[in-house]
Amino acid sequence: MPMTRVLVAYGSSEGQTAAVAERIGEILETEGCDATLVHLQHPPSPLEPAVYDGVVVGASVHAGSHQRYVESFVRSHRETLNRRPTAFVSVSLSAASDDAERRGTADELLDGFLEKTDWDPDGTLSVAGALKYSEYGLFTRLLMRRLGGKERGDTDTSRDYEYTDWEAVESFTREFATLVDGD
Ligand SMILES: Cc1cc2nc3c(=O)[nH]c(=O)nc-3n(C[C@H](O)[C@H](O)[C@H](O)COP(=O)(O)O)c2cc1C
Repeated sequence: MPMTRVLVAYGSSEGQTAAVAERIGEILETEGCDATLVHLQHPPSPLEPAVYDGVVVGASVHAGSHQRYVESFVRSHRETLNRRPTAFVSVSLSAASDDAERRGTADELLDGFLEKTDWDPDGTLSVAGALKYSEYGLFTRLLMRRLGGKERGDTDTSRDYEYTDWEAVESFTREFATLVDGD
């Protein structure tokens, strides 16, 4: 039987969603799938989602929206995506919050992305990202220290902080693999 092929297409500005996509790829491989990772900022041409049995899309939130290039990928392949098993993983700092209202904002941004793109994935995951002070320029570092770091006291800008719940990423991926395999 041919291997189940899964495309993991993502956007990432400071690398955390790239790390999440890699972990998703590893788990898919251990579940017996053939995973192809594509950073949508530099997609190979042609990139044809229709040749895959399933597609996972990942994107992170900056200033209240996901990467535009991920949005246009989903828009232009919406019909293909809506016809096969798909999942959307949204990475943000709001998802890391202890405050339910802020976590709710992450869910709203995820739903907003799906509404804007008219995409109806089989599964969605809102997952916490990272504060990567080492990747930011001076102003972003100060801004993120105030907006992101203060809530948890993670204000030491000489190091990075990671909040991603890897177990949630792994179990979500395993469930998705079952869905693609059974399709
Ligand atoms: C300039 C900037 C703006 C951000 N804006 C938001 C935001 O509006 N809401 C949010 O929840 N997280 C926000 N974040 C946090 C990112 O979503 C988080 O750092 C995530 O891990 C980034 O993923 P990436 O490394 O894949 O780009 C912002 C981060 C930066 C650097």
